[in-house]
Amino acid sequence: MKQIENKKILITGGAGFIGSHVVRLFVNKYPNDQIFNLDSLTYAGNLENLKDVENAKNYTFLKADINDADEINQLFAIHKFDKVIHLAAESHVDRSIADPLAFVRTNVIGTVNLLNAAKDCWKDDFTDKLFYHVSTDEVYGTLGETGLFTETTSYDPNSPYSASKASSDHFVRAYGETYKLPYMISNCSNNYGPNQFPEKLIPLFIHNIVQEKSLPVYGDGKYTRDWLYVLDHAVAIDLAFHKGKVGETYNIGGFNEWQNIDLIKLLCELMDKKLGRETGSSAKLITYIKDRPGHDKRYAIDATKINKELGWKPSVTFEEGLSKTVDWYLENEVWLNNVTSGKYQEYYNKQYN
Ligand code: NAD
Ligand code: DAU
Repeated sequence: MKQIENKKILITGGAGFIGSHVVRLFVNKYPNDQIFNLDSLTYAGNLENLKDVENAKNYTFLKADINDADEINQLFAIHKFDKVIHLAAESHVDRSIADPLAFVRTNVIGTVNLLNAAKDCWKDDFTDKLFYHVSTDEVYGTLGETGLFTETTSYDPNSPYSASKASSDHFVRAYGETYKLPYMISNCSNNYGPNQFPEKLIPLFIHNIVQEKSLPVYGDGKYTRDWLYVLDHAVAIDLAFHKGKVGETYNIGGFNEWQNIDLIKLLCELMDKKLGRETGSSAKLITYIKDRPGHDKRYAIDATKINKELGWKPSVTFEEGLSKTVDWYLENEVWLNNVTSGKYQEYYNKQYN
C-alpha cells in the first residue's frame, strides 16, 4: 500500500500577505502533512488573515523571530521539520530606504539562521528534505523599454530591500553548493490581492480612495510592474515545491505589465463604479509627488520555464483579480481599519507628508 505522506512543513512569514495564502492552501490541500506557521508578527503579520484555518488539526502557529538563532535551532530540534518554505521578510522598498539595517537583519541574517538550523537538523540525512526560498524579481535590478527577466539574468539589485533579498538568495545557493543542502528558489513579480498590507500601491490606493484622500504617485507615474494575483503565486509555489527540481530557480510572473499611472486610472474607474460615485471622482485624487530614490523603471518576468516544465500559468485575468481585490477590501472594512490605526498613521505621515 502506498505510504500516506506525513511531512512536517515549516512555513515562515505565514501571517503575512503571501504567506497566509500559502498556509491556507497547504493546510486545506494536504491534510496528512503538519503545517507549522512561524511568524514574529511584525506590523505586517496578522493572525486575522488565518482565522478560517486556525483550528485545523494539521495547523500549528509558532510565534518566533528568525533573527533569534537559539530559538530557531530549538524549534528545529523539537519539531524536526522535514521541509521549509521561507517567506518571512521585511518586504517594503520604501521602509528599506528609511531603515536598511532592519532588512539586513531579517532578510539576510534571519535567512542564514534558518539555513543553519535546517543544515544542523538534517545533517545526517538530506533525503526528502527541502529548503524552498521565496524571492523577488527585484534582485535582477531594472529593465529598459524591452526585455524580460529570465532565471539566468544577472543579479543587479538597486534598493536596500532588493540587495537584502539578493544576498539571501546567494546564501541559499551557497548552502546548496557548500553543504549540499537541498534548495529551490522562486523569484516572483508584484503580487496583489486580499490581505496585502496597505503600504503597497494597490491596497494603499484602495484605502485612500475609500477615504477620499490624495493618491500619491511617485515621479511621473511611468514605472512598469508585472502584476500577479496572490493565489496564483501560492499555486506556483505549491507546484514548484512538490514537482520542481532541487537546486533550480523558477521565475514566476503575471505576463501582465502595467505602467503605474494606467493601473491607477483603471483602479479609480473601478472604485467609482463599486462605490457608486460619479465617474472621474477618484481620478481627481491623483497627486504626483517626489519620486522614490533609486526607483526601478521596469520589471517584467519571463515565466516560460515554470510554464513549460511544470505547466503553471496565471488563472486570473488582471481585471478579474483587481475586481475581486477591491471587493475584498470593501467587505473587510474592520480588517482595514485595524491595520491602519496607530503606528500606520505615524508611518504614513512620515512617508508622505
Ligand atoms: P509581508 O510583509 O506581507 O509579510 C511578511 C511576514 O513576515 C509578516 O507576517 C511578518 O510578521 C513576518 N516577519 C517579518 N520579519 C520576521 C522575523 N524576523 N521573524 C519572523 N517573521 C517575520 O510580505 P509579503 O508581501 O507577503 O512577502 C512575502 C515574501 O515574498 C517575502 O520574502 C518577499 O520578499 C517575497 N515577495 C513578495 C512579493 C510581493 O509582491 N509582495 C513579490 C515577490 C516576492
Ligand atoms: O516586484 C516584486 C516586489 O513588488 C516585491 O518583492 C516587494 O515585496 C513588493 O513590495 C513590490 O515592490 P514594489 O516597490 O514594486 O511595490 P510597491 O507597491 O511599493 O510599488 C509599486 C509601484 O508603485 C512602484 O513603481 C512604486 C509606485 N508607488 C508605490 C507607492 C507605495 C507609488 O507611485 N506611490 C506609492 O505610494
